[in-house]
Amino acid sequence: TSSVGFVGYRGMVGSVLMQRLQEEGDFEHLDPVFFSTSNPGGAAPEFASGAPALKDAHDVDELAKLPIIVTAQGGDYTKDVHTKLRSQGWGGLWIDAASSLRMNDDSIIVLDPINRDVIDRGLESGVKDFVGGNCTVSCMLMGLGGLFRNNLVEWGTSMTYQAASGGGAKHMRELLNQFGAINAAVSDELADPASAILEIDRKVLEKQRTDLDASQFGVPLGGSLIPWIDSDLGNGQSREEWKAGVETNKILQTGEDNKIIMDGLCVRIGAMRSHSQALTIKLREELSVAEIEKLLAEDNEWAQVVPNTKEATMQDLTPVAASGTLRVPVGRIRQLEMGPQYISAFTVGDQLLWGAAEPLRRMLAIATG
Ligand code: HSE
Repeated sequence: TSSVGFVGYRGMVGSVLMQRLQEEGDFEHLDPVFFSTSNPGGAAPEFASGAPALKDAHDVDELAKLPIIVTAQGGDYTKDVHTKLRSQGWGGLWIDAASSLRMNDDSIIVLDPINRDVIDRGLESGVKDFVGGNCTVSCMLMGLGGLFRNNLVEWGTSMTYQAASGGGAKHMRELLNQFGAINAAVSDELADPASAILEIDRKVLEKQRTDLDASQFGVPLGGSLIPWIDSDLGNGQSREEWKAGVETNKILQTGEDNKIIMDGLCVRIGAMRSHSQALTIKLREELSVAEIEKLLAEDNEWAQVVPNTKEATMQDLTPVAASGTLRVPVGRIRQLEMGPQYISAFTVGDQLLWGAAEPLRRMLAIATG
């Protein structure tokens, strides 16, 4: 068994990670030590019987005793504690959900069904920092691995439809409260089939504009959308949009000569936990839809090709269908009017599973293998 320190195991990503570790029986091979920022000295979680009492997540000496640390505590924690640990010479493996270390030259972005070779080479050559990718990037590569990994993508745009969970637990609650408040504002009218729809619409809009708690997202999301995610880079691009290009190329280690151009717009919508994205892809060569679907279906066991029909799309290619599962449905594949090398695709992935917790769980399994 391997000793592993877990930090941030009670947050949303951390909780999903703990759930997955239990489902897969991973704790049988681990000696977990849990760290807390708020409750050091408290009891270890029940699912890890025999684990010692919670240790202080800022106690660098305690952390340094462990050969592997897995954190979902967030970027600020990483910046603070990782720096301290490394500067005092800690040489253990740091497995992280936050983005802080992702683009460092000496870190690897982990998504092993897509880049197991990169991970293995990294471990052999002494890389110590392994970071989960941005959720939309990971979900895109899981769904479309068959094209990306066969070097068939010249460029792509990813136009996203990102769920509230990407903001955090409070954001999910806020969205639901907004839906509730909007509904309550017109419940009398809704109960009366004869009431005027334009009056309902007017009241909803008034509620959204004047009287809806939007303290997490900043503006109402329920019944609306927000076409900006993460910070403003000052060049017209959001940080989330920038990640699509740089992380895709880093995960695949494409190198300067073979770089895949990826860019697009990232949009928050009122889904709960699965991120969707519509892609336009310029292929490096002409392929039939059947050939593309075969490549996608064969690339990894989680990509699930959805036939491009209305029935199948509506049943299987939605956040409601994908949430809570490891399947990554990918569909709407067709050649676009722009020419035979231009295709569309739509993919959906659970932001908390392949988008966050699962690549970390699998990296831990590889490291302790
Ligand atoms: N940045 C993502 C989002 C979440 O806001 O949806 C984590 O990758």
